[in-house]
Amino acid sequence: MPATCVVGLQWGDEAKGKIVDLLSDDHDFVVRYNGGANAGHTIVWGSRTFKLSLLPTGILKSKVTSVIGNGVVVYPPRFLEEIDQLLEAGVPVGANLKVSDHAHVIFPYHMEEERVVETAGDGGAIGTTGRGIGPCYQDKVGRRFAIRVGELLDPKHLRERLSYVVPYKNRFIHALTAGGTHTSKSFDPAAIADEYGRYAERMRPFVCDTTRLLHDGLKASKKILFEAAQGSLLDVDHGTYPYVTSSSSLPAGIWGGSGVPSKVLTRTIGVVKAYTTRVGRGPFPTELDDGPDGLGERIRRIGREFGTVTGRPRRTGWLDGVALNYTTALAGVDEFSLMLLDVLSGIPELKIATAYDLDGERVTHFPSDAHVLARCTPVYETVPGWTEDLTKCRKVGDLPANCRRYIDRVAALIGVPVMVASVGPDRDQTIPMQ
Ligand code: GDP
Ligand code: IMO
Ligand code: MG
Repeated sequence: MPATCVVGLQWGDEAKGKIVDLLSDDHDFVVRYNGGANAGHTIVWGSRTFKLSLLPTGILKSKVTSVIGNGVVVYPPRFLEEIDQLLEAGVPVGANLKVSDHAHVIFPYHMEEERVVETAGDGGAIGTTGRGIGPCYQDKVGRRFAIRVGELLDPKHLRERLSYVVPYKNRFIHALTAGGTHTSKSFDPAAIADEYGRYAERMRPFVCDTTRLLHDGLKASKKILFEAAQGSLLDVDHGTYPYVTSSSSLPAGIWGGSGVPSKVLTRTIGVVKAYTTRVGRGPFPTELDDGPDGLGERIRRIGREFGTVTGRPRRTGWLDGVALNYTTALAGVDEFSLMLLDVLSGIPELKIATAYDLDGERVTHFPSDAHVLARCTPVYETVPGWTEDLTKCRKVGDLPANCRRYIDRVAALIGVPVMVASVGPDRDQTIPMQ
């Protein structure tokens, strides 16, 4: 049975959540396959706003089975907190949520390890979300110290594992701070075993072999929607390394992160913001770093560009056609959605990067290594903007001519058709383009 994937084509926060929400009605499963509570997906239904970090966006639809795949890293307190918030908001959460027994667990020492290296003040900071994502994935591929969700469910086994792992972690974290001015915490294996044992009892009903669940779903012709977290430029292999996250946010992450074979994916929808944002450190060629009265600040204010997870102001800039060409090819995008177009209203001229100047040479490929990308300056094409408020537009004919031209130009640049244009956060503020 065919499956669909929704993937961000920039540095995250492209409004993937809104697109997944729009598509989830037509699917039986919505599956997260990468990342963890570093993601922040905001969904707006009229006066109601939902913010999801770890749970798939499908959770808002009780008929959909939402799956946290084995490729996700799970922080149990956040998992339970998000469930409680949804229950409080009247959203049913029960048999419609499943978490893989093979997903890896984030412990407090992962966050401490991250804090110690991110705050060392030695120039090595990545600007992470501080959610323990990197250290947990390090333990996963390192194999010795990782603990998976399924292991939480056996209290005796969990206690034994933690009594092996935690002393190593304490020594490691202390060694990271040795000789410096920082101090670090020490962790008690028994206390963690007690705490996580309590979380496990609440998590137990949700835990299962999600790979088998999805295989059975495929056999029964169920429809699967994969929801990427982060954006393609944050992908650990193909993003702007080392300023990336620690998982595969591209569709290539699906096979490893869910156990579903690649051949079932028949539709990949790229999500693109009408400009560019980035949170955290790393090169950003089209950044508008033009002060408190500049366009960068205006876009941040009107687009409410502040991180959902950390509240950090997002860096803002023009659309980058060079980067989009690269990520469209990497992700195998069939069609794309162009989001937050309303934010650009009132800007007389808009710029789109169509090439870079790299050490005096014009290049049209995207050099994804951060140290090379940092030397690139964008070559812009300028297009006329529009003054009209777009937020009440509901069909193509309602859009001003220059906005339609902008959409067409983006589609021509990246070479795939546009599925929807988005003119506001609400479900209704969506314009079908096909
Ligand atoms: P995600 O991480 O890719 O799901 O995106 P985020 O939820 O982090 O960020 C997108 C933000 O833009 C959210 O606050 C959405 O509610 C909001 N949003 C989505 N589409 C539009 C749009 O067309 N216009 C405006 N102004 N906001 C939008
Ligand atoms: P969604 O799903 C935007 C960024 C962080 C940092 C880098 C590494 O909402 O699009 P990490 O904590 O993952 O080790 O941080 O990745 N980052 C995101 N930026 N949106 C996200 O998710 C992000 N998840 C991680 O800011 O630069
Ligand atoms: Mg986000």
